[in-house]
Amino acid sequence: MKERNQKYFIALFVFSALAMILYGLHINRQDITIFTSPEKKSEPNFPTNYTFTPVFNLSIENEEDEFTAAMIRHREKNRTGQMKTYVVSDSYSKFQVNDSLSCWEDSKFKGTFDANCNVVKKYPIGDSGPYLQELGLARDFVEFLNPRIPVIVTAASSNHFMEVQAQMQNLHSVVFPKYKNVKFIFYDIGLRENETEMLKKHCRCEYRLFPFDKYPEHLKILKGYTFKPLIAQIVLNEYGFVMWMDASVRFRTGDLDSLFELAMKDGVKIISGGLGVGYRTDPVTFKFLREDPCLFADKNEIQATFILIHRSRFVIETIMRPWVSCALTSGCMYFPGSQDRISCVNQKGLGFCHRFDQSIMSIILWRLYHADFGRALMPERFFDVQRDQTARYFESLEKKTNL
Ligand SMILES: *[C@@H]1O[C@H](CO)[C@@H](O)[C@H](O)[C@H]1NC(C)=O
Ligand SMILES: *[C@@H]1O[C@H](CO)[C@@H](O)[C@H](O)[C@H]1NC(C)=O
Ligand SMILES: *[C@@H]1O[C@H](CO)[C@@H](O)[C@H](O)[C@H]1NC(C)=O
Ligand SMILES: *[C@@H]1O[C@H](CO)[C@@H](O)[C@H](O)[C@H]1NC(C)=O
Ligand SMILES: *[C@@H]1O[C@H](CO)[C@@H](O)[C@H](O)[C@H]1NC(C)=O
Repeated sequence: MKERNQKYFIALFVFSALAMILYGLHINRQDITIFTSPEKKSEPNFPTNYTFTPVFNLSIENEEDEFTAAMIRHREKNRTGQMKTYVVSDSYSKFQVNDSLSCWEDSKFKGTFDANCNVVKKYPIGDSGPYLQELGLARDFVEFLNPRIPVIVTAASSNHFMEVQAQMQNLHSVVFPKYKNVKFIFYDIGLRENETEMLKKHCRCEYRLFPFDKYPEHLKILKGYTFKPLIAQIVLNEYGFVMWMDASVRFRTGDLDSLFELAMKDGVKIISGGLGVGYRTDPVTFKFLREDPCLFADKNEIQATFILIHRSRFVIETIMRPWVSCALTSGCMYFPGSQDRISCVNQKGLGFCHRFDQSIMSIILWRLYHADFGRALMPERFFDVQRDQTARYFESLEKKTNL
């Protein structure tokens, strides 16, 4: 297994190096045709002052649509072969599946790694076109040197103010002593003025107000979690190496070198989660991405609580672009009413709840890695997730300075 991975990475490295050299020769071109025909070999010669305009469109019906294909198979129960039947939620009635969905047992991920990369690259980018250039997700990928230590990024609104204080206390006491110059960025997604003031004074971070007005309206619905892929990408585009943490992540150790090395090797490292992607993703999303929900029915979800992302052409084109595009498009990660569908009870079936950022990240990573899914996961010995653990850390710091 390890040896295979090594060989694979050597191959990937050689390929990336070649791609970089070739790309260097074309660095002034801004080829945006990838969204309509990713396999196109010869690139059109755009003038260097070409301004970015989206050329995609969403005529899903004209394309191969795995979601529709699965629904049709469901009706053809007379086919020979093994079927597994899943209970479906009411959401499936939007697509005329009223009681159950029968998945053929041969519904398995097929094809080579490259073929599956192409499936992900062809996920519709929806309404995200006008934002991709500025976010560093358009065709003109430019290589830059990534740091060896990631930028730490977190965000909070007022209802997580006490939790984020506990997180900062942990970071300051466990991680900062080892990584003295580590960059730490906090995104304000809805703090009160008095909280902002206190945080700026004590966080030892760069404070940023999330620019909600720049993006589609639905990003303001925090329970749609679409802000998270956006923040991760904004910082990734600036610094090249990002460690996103929800306010609930606590480090057990400050020695994270080996964790960072894993991320540099594999691009994305993320926490494993419970069952299952199909259970915890609304059919609207599968339909939008043209994916077959049967493929994801029994697959473990990841948790988008803690993610390391190391920038490369592969990570940008096959993970971040589809993830962020989906976040920017109402009807993909978020859709009207989805904010009420987050609550999941652990049982099997399809579409019983929806987990937004982590639903989509799970779909992308399973499609890319499937049999080798462990490659996306990070070892758990470095940290704990402690939801609802709070502290009055800033107040205690104020008391100390007043003494
Ligand atoms: C781009 O450059 C060309 C040639 O230099 C010029 O004719 C054209 O007006 C420019 N377009 C824009 C949008 O600036
Ligand atoms: C979308 O694509 C279809 C099929 O290629 C085409 O007929 C239609 O005009 C396109 N729509 C837009 C808005 O470009
Ligand atoms: C299954 O039934 C449908 C509708 O009756 C029919 O069109 C189709 O040919 C059948 N398929 C097989 C494999 O028998
Ligand atoms: C599902 O229910 C709708 C509305 O009750 C009905 O129109 C449709 O035919 C049903 N679909 C199937 C596959 O039974
Ligand atoms: C900020 O103000 C609100 C009400 O004005 C108050 O409830 C809250 O405790 C204050 N928070 C801090 C950190 O001072």
